Amino acid sequence: MMYLSHSEKETEQLGERLGQALSPGTVVAYTGGLGMGKTAFTRGLARGLGCTERVTSPTFTLVNEYPGRIPLFHFDVYRLSSSDALYDIGWDDYLDRGGVCAVEWSENITDALPADTVYVRLRRSPTHENWREIDVEGAHAL
Ligand SMILES: Nc1ncnc2c1ncn2[C@@H]1O[C@H](COP(=O)(O)OP(=O)(O)OP(=O)(O)O)[C@@H](O)[C@H]1O
Ligand SMILES: [Mg+2]
Repeated sequence: MMYLSHSEKETEQLGERLGQALSPGTVVAYTGGLGMGKTAFTRGLARGLGCTERVTSPTFTLVNEYPGRIPLFHFDVYRLSSSDALYDIGWDDYLDRGGVCAVEWSENITDALPADTVYVRLRRSPTHENWREIDVEGAHAL
């Protein structure tokens, strides 16, 4: 399903609705370049999962963990060129821990994504600098 976001706040709200709809163990795989709103979407996702801690970008840490109704494991694999390092930090364990794994720059680790992954593809609207077309695939309509 395609959604149009007119602001950072709307992107967060869409993420929140997805978070409310997800089951434990789901992987959310983002694609979309720098500054497209993956971290903004994840802030909303965290709220929807009942995670109350402030979400910050895991660019340098690879993964941040947030406790909640459903825990959130927020990955940013921008710096990885393959999924090897992801498995090294325990990807299989994260998949088994009953949380939601949200992965920025998932195009770098496509072979590690399960068959039932929810894909969130963000791109800039061709007409407006601050609008984003957000394609959510693999989840029920939000
Ligand atoms: N409709 C919109 N949705 C989301 N962000 C928007 C929107 N319009 C403008 N922005 C701006 O775009 C930026 C998005 O930043 P964010 O960190 O969420 O992107 P990102 O995809 O995680 O980038 P990176 O690849 O660097 O991690 C913010 O500065 C935000 O204010
Ligand atoms: Mg980010």
